[in-house]
Amino acid sequence: MLNIVIFGAPGSGKGTQSERIVEKYGINHISTGDVLRAEIKKGTELGKVAQSYIDQGQLLPDHLIVDILAATLDSFAESKGVIFDGFPRTIAQAEALKKMLAERGQAVSIMLNLDVPEEELMKRLIKRGQESGRADDNEETIKKRLVVYHNQTAPLIDWYKQEGLYAHIHGFGALETITAEICQAIDKVK
Ligand code: AP5
Ligand code: MG
Repeated sequence: MLNIVIFGAPGSGKGTQSERIVEKYGINHISTGDVLRAEIKKGTELGKVAQSYIDQGQLLPDHLIVDILAATLDSFAESKGVIFDGFPRTIAQAEALKKMLAERGQAVSIMLNLDVPEEELMKRLIKRGQESGRADDNEETIKKRLVVYHNQTAPLIDWYKQEGLYAHIHGFGALETITAEICQAIDKVK
């Protein structure tokens, strides 16, 4: 089982690169952001809660996200592996993922950190906001998401280094070049 954590700041290319990895390795994809946006669209209770946090660029409480993760993991019973996109985002979530996988006789195989300069992140997200209108892709909310990333999520870099699972990826440049570097890192642990 290949369990890949794809990590990076807002706009670093987690979703874009996940699609390419899913195609190449035939594994499942969980994007917690996509799950929450689908709930918002359906107008569920969870969607209403999610919207209040997403609009503010804040993280949802860990327990809500961990429950979503557990339910999604169990729906992939016959899977070759999973790419976790946008999760974990806090140390508590990383610890929960480790436990959840251990209970299923599994572990994280690698953590890929898509490293992208901040001014490029801002450019990409503003552009997407203008083109597709994702509600949190406006300058004010992007700035809040970046602060949350630095305070709550970036500490996971050292956490995964200590676990011996960390891989740095240059996330700036042509999509194909980034995918190639990612595949090289995955093939080493496969
Ligand atoms: P989430 O949906 O995960 O958003 P995010 O982390 O802010 O990241 P994005 O999805 O915006 O960016 P991405 O890294 O996927 O990049 P993408 O490939 O799209 O989370 C949204 C919200 O949900 C959070 O703020 C929080 O409220 C909540 N949430 C989610 N998970 C949570 C959790 N675990 N705990 C608590 N709360 C949670 O690329 C971005 C753009 O750049 C695209 O337009 C793309 O075409 C372009 N692009 C990609 N690669 C390149 C490249 N190489 N060159 C040029 N452009 C590129
Ligand atoms: Mg995404």
